[in-house]
Amino acid sequence: MNGIVQGSSGLVKLTHAEIKRKIAYQKLFGLDELQKYLFRFCKTILTADDSIISHFRLYDLAPSILLYGPPNTGKTTLCYLLFDQIKQEVTNEINFYTVDVGQMLDPALGQSSRNLEQIFQELKNICSDGSSVFLLLDELDAFCMSRSRAQEHDAVRRAMTTLMLELDKLHPSTTSQLLVFGITNVPNLVDTAVVRRFALKQYVDAHLSWDDFKSYLDYLNKPIKYKPNEEELQKLYDIYSNRSFTTGDIKALYKILFVDVMCADISGNLLDRLIELFEKGFSTRDHLSIASEELSND
Ligand SMILES: Nc1ncnc2c1ncn2[C@@H]1O[C@H](COP(=O)(O)OP(=O)(O)OP(=O)(O)O)[C@@H](O)[C@H]1O
Ligand SMILES: [Mg+2]
Repeated sequence: MNGIVQGSSGLVKLTHAEIKRKIAYQKLFGLDELQKYLFRFCKTILTADDSIISHFRLYDLAPSILLYGPPNTGKTTLCYLLFDQIKQEVTNEINFYTVDVGQMLDPALGQSSRNLEQIFQELKNICSDGSSVFLLLDELDAFCMSRSRAQEHDAVRRAMTTLMLELDKLHPSTTSQLLVFGITNVPNLVDTAVVRRFALKQYVDAHLSWDDFKSYLDYLNKPIKYKPNEEELQKLYDIYSNRSFTTGDIKALYKILFVDVMCADISGNLLDRLIELFEKGFSTRDHLSIASEELSND
């Protein structure tokens, strides 16, 4: 994992420059409304005065957000973009942290719990100095599998219980500067007690509107200087809808197209190749049912 490792608990800090590098060529389509909504929520919390905080307290509204949805739909990228927007438009005094789950989980008795407690304590210390924290718990399912799952490791179970306790302790009156984002693409496998503890739960899986699809393809076609006409775009949009590609799948198809343009002489029939890729290329959703079957048979 990139970033600056903070001690041995698994806490990792990513600098703004690193986040900027990650999003340098990233533009998300179909998620504008969600990004706006989440940005406003974060901004409200980070800038809340006493009267707003009293409302948050009334509803027990903690600054914790769970993003869930199929793989390859932009969840992680959305968090990076949100952080960058908050840093630029709300407060420069905010830093991005994540957890290296492999390091945080420790087979020694109780050590995973101590690591997580230490992580939250460190972050709260940072907040008490007046800074804000954007904590991303990506791939939450790695240590929050349902408690009924028999193969669950003791260290995993303990870490999950500690996370629940720490999420319970989050409160706008004491921790309004600590934003916690959880991400999973298998929410059905995450313990419902964990899911419930996130104040906001947002499904991320944009089905692109015709206009968003055209803008997305325009963006992907630019480097290869391809300008399909309206009829060709409509054909591609129909295949996109039929095959239920995720937004990330389309980019993956363009990766192949780009390599073909660079390494094979296909400039004369770009459209044929693109249609072939759309018709036969990898669709995340085709594999989802197989994947969840495999997981549920574990
Ligand atoms: N809505 C979108 N618009 C444009 N590109 C997208 C979109 N969603 C995903 N992508 C692209 O797909 C790739 C994967 O995105 P990302 O890693 O953010 O997805 P994810 O939902 O976190 O996936 P996973 O659940 O597998 O971790 C990135 O290159 C990203 O730019
Ligand atoms: Mg991700």
